[in-house]
Amino acid sequence: MAEPIRLGAADAGELLTLQRAAFLTEARAHRSFDLPPLTETLGELAAVLADPDVVTWGVRESGRLVASVRIRLRGEVGEVGRLVVAPDRQGAGLGSALVKAAEDRLPPQVRVLRLFTGELSEGPLRLYARLGYAETGRTPEAHYHLVHLEKRFR
Ligand SMILES: CC(C)(COP(=O)(O)OP(=O)(O)OC[C@H]1O[C@@H](n2cnc3c(N)ncnc32)[C@H](O)[C@@H]1OP(=O)(O)O)[C@@H](O)C(=O)NCCC(=O)NCCS
Repeated sequence: MAEPIRLGAADAGELLTLQRAAFLTEARAHRSFDLPPLTETLGELAAVLADPDVVTWGVRESGRLVASVRIRLRGEVGEVGRLVVAPDRQGAGLGSALVKAAEDRLPPQVRVLRLFTGELSEGPLRLYARLGYAETGRTPEAHYHLVHLEKRFR
């Protein structure tokens, strides 16, 4: 994988396109097109990218943005979100490598990472389990449940 780079507000348009393309499979699996990654507006995404409490990483291949993940820093907790890989680049190890790279680059106060995903997201659930994330609970969401996962690493 190419070295991850920090993304900022100027990358919002490109990231919105990547995010919408990547989350289409999740929308279909959960029979919901109102998933936050699909309804997030360009303005909201630009604001997150400019937020100093959120670190957003991206991977570019020949200039093209092909993967991203963001981590919101809340004291000793890092909230991982919006892990996305371009549909034509999935299954080549980019998603796993990017999460690992983001973990390696966390500020030292972060001791636990949390994230959630839909219960029907079989691929992501396998990926997070392989990376050491364990389920802590489930919460109802429309006609499915969200699976909450955690990893303590320091
Ligand atoms: C989830 C997502 C980020 C995973 O990204 P990815 O780059 O495809 O992930 P990886 O390639 O690291 O791992 C996926 C699979 O490819 C396999 N793989 C890993 N390295 C590989 C390689 N070098 N060559 C081929 N396959 C590989 C993994 O074994 C894994 O197999 P699995 O289906 O048994 O889990 C991507 O599918 C995506 O964007 N999905 C839509 C958005 C989403 O669901 N995000 C997460 C919601 S919280």
